[in-house]
Amino acid sequence: KTVTVLNGPNLNLLGKRQPEIYGHDTLADVETLCRDTAAPFGLEVAFHQSNHEGEIVEQVHAARESSAGIIINPAAYTHTSVAILDALNTFEGPVIEVHISNVHKRESFRHHSYVSFRADAVIAGCGVEGYALAMRRMASLLAD
Ligand code: DQA
Repeated sequence: KTVTVLNGPNLNLLGKRQPEIYGHDTLADVETLCRDTAAPFGLEVAFHQSNHEGEIVEQVHAARESSAGIIINPAAYTHTSVAILDALNTFEGPVIEVHISNVHKRESFRHHSYVSFRADAVIAGCGVEGYALAMRRMASLLAD
């Protein structure tokens, strides 16, 4: 089985971008973490990042064919994108939403998530380790 991991805008700069909030690990480190966590469960990982809302919508559509589950950090689109929510609503498998920072501890505009209307689980404030936690939970959901 394959798990698609999607990352939204500005996460290509992870490690350089506001490290006091998001830490020093890069997105390449996150990809390695996801693959290393998935491997013992026999899961493949398709890992993507995009700064463009429509491209993320299309990556969700592609996951409909290729993947059993989606882990998504929609970044700023979390708080704005009905289009990504609608795309996720076309996906039948489990969806887990990840935020590196604790969005609830931050500005009030980060407290609302469109994606949470669809997500089966939400992980926030665990740093990049949240991706590993999400992958483990995904493995449990896909094993049931
Ligand atoms: C984020 C939180 C969002 O509010 C922000 O726009 C991001 C990253 C996180 O991982 O903590 O870009 O999703």
